[in-house]
Amino acid sequence: MKVVVLTGAGISAESGVPTFRDSDGLWEGHDVMEVATPEGFAADPALVQRFYDLRRAHLAKVDTNPAHLALARLEQALGDDLLVITQNVDDLHERAGSTRVLHMHGELRSALCLACADRFPWEGDLAHSPACPGCDEAMLRPDVVWFGEMPYRMDEALQALQEADLFVAVGTSAHVQPAAAFVHWAAEQGARTLEINLAETLSTDDFDESRQGRAGDLVPRWVEELLAGR
Ligand code: APR
Repeated sequence: MKVVVLTGAGISAESGVPTFRDSDGLWEGHDVMEVATPEGFAADPALVQRFYDLRRAHLAKVDTNPAHLALARLEQALGDDLLVITQNVDDLHERAGSTRVLHMHGELRSALCLACADRFPWEGDLAHSPACPGCDEAMLRPDVVWFGEMPYRMDEALQALQEADLFVAVGTSAHVQPAAAFVHWAAEQGARTLEINLAETLSTDDFDESRQGRAGDLVPRWVEELLAGR
């Protein structure tokens, strides 16, 4: 059975990573549009780099939760038949043991050079080490997808959704495209669809089944159920 799991900020909420829309649109005190758009970066690159440096430093202090660990366990059982597509830029899926993770909105632990388009692991603070190791230009930005930019690896995601027997969305409000359309792409080709979320979302009615509750409780339970039924 081929399974695609889409995760959003809600799966990391129990690890202490703030979601986007549960905090009335502010993101750690910043207007999201000022720190998560190319225009915001062009206007004040140092502010944006500092903002992401802070988010990265915060990530070092949080840990995985049972929902991340359950998906890693599911990958151990299903192998290549499971793909996790995440909108999150944290590395909590990887830290829990998942290896098949598609970061459609990029990753905090990667930096992108605007001069040579080189990507590389983001070690120090961007705000203090601006030189690109590839071309030595001081044109670095966080390797995350901002509003108005194209998500990464969408053809791979679409391929997986077309082959899926089961599509599960965990902890996403379905506010942002194209992730919010994944349930339709999967259902169109016959996949069963399940939503696991703290509250109803804009897409709840589009799922075959919707379970409301905390990801840390419901995802492990769903994984056990799936593995027991195989
Ligand atoms: N368990 C399950 N779901 C939860 C939990 C929890 N403990 N806590 C919050 N949620 C749910 C909320 O009910 C909400 O529906 O997680 C969802 C989080 O929604 P958003 O904050 O909108 O995050 P997300 O859907 O991932 O946002 C998508 O929007 O801002 C852009 O690029 C950013 O990747 C992000 C994208």
